[in-house]
Amino acid sequence: MSLLPRLSALAFLGALTILGAPTLLARQATTQAALDARVKAFLAERAGTWRDLNVPDVDGQSLHDLIVEHRYTRALEIGTSTGHSGIWIAWGLSKTGGRLITVELDEGRHAEAKRNFEAAGLARYVDARLGDAHAIVPALEGPFDFVFSDADKDWYPNYFRAVFPKVVKGGVFTTHNVSEAGRRGAMGSREYLAVLRATAGADTTVDERGGGLAITFKR
Ligand SMILES: C[S@@+](CC[C@H](N)C(=O)[O-])C[C@H]1O[C@@H](n2cnc3c(N)ncnc32)[C@H](O)[C@@H]1O
Repeated sequence: MSLLPRLSALAFLGALTILGAPTLLARQATTQAALDARVKAFLAERAGTWRDLNVPDVDGQSLHDLIVEHRYTRALEIGTSTGHSGIWIAWGLSKTGGRLITVELDEGRHAEAKRNFEAAGLARYVDARLGDAHAIVPALEGPFDFVFSDADKDWYPNYFRAVFPKVVKGGVFTTHNVSEAGRRGAMGSREYLAVLRATAGADTTVDERGGGLAITFKR
C-alpha cells in the first residue's frame, strides 16, 4: 500500500476510535446505572434482615464511600459472614474496576454470602474464600489498597501486623467494632487502638456512628 491510502486508512481508524469512545462510555454508564439499581433494590429488599453479626448500613456506606472516593481497587475483607459488608465493598469496587478477596471460616455463611453476591449482581467483583483467616490472610501476597478487618476480635492485632506492610501508601486498613471508649464489647478495643496508633506511617481515626469503625490510612 502506498503512503496516501495508508494514511487515509489510519485517519479512518482514528475517526472510528474517537467517534466510538463516547458510545463506549455511554454504554459503560448505562451498565453501571443498571447495576446500581440492582444493588439498591437488593439492599432495600434485605434491609433489617441481616442477623449474622453483619455491619449496620452506615458502616457499609462508609466502606463503599472510602473505596469510591480514593479509587481503591485491591480489596481484602477478613470475616465475610453472609456478605452484607462485602456487598457494600464490592459495589464500590464495581465503580473503580477493582476486586475483593473475602475470607470466612463458617461454611454455611460463606455459601449464603456467595448467593447474596450473585443476587446483588456483584459476584464478578468478589473472590470469596472458605477457610481459616489465621492461615489464609498472612499467606496472601497483596498488595492491597483497602482492607476491612471484621473477624475474630482477639486476632485483630495479628491480622493488622500481617497485612499492613502489604498495604500501599495512600491505602487504608479499616477495622470494625473499635471504639475510643473501648465499649461495644470488642475485646481489647482500646489495646488494639493503641497498636494502631503506635504504628509508624499510620494515621488512625474512629468513626463512632455505627458499630465503631477504625480507619487507618498509610502515609
Ligand atoms: C462480625 S462477622 C463479619 C460480618 C461481615 N463483615 C458483614 O458485615 O456482613 C465475623 C465473621 O468472621 C468469621 N470468622 C471468625 N473467625 C474467623 C477465622 N479465623 N477465619 C475466618 N473467618 C472467621 C465468623 O464466622 C463470622 O462470620
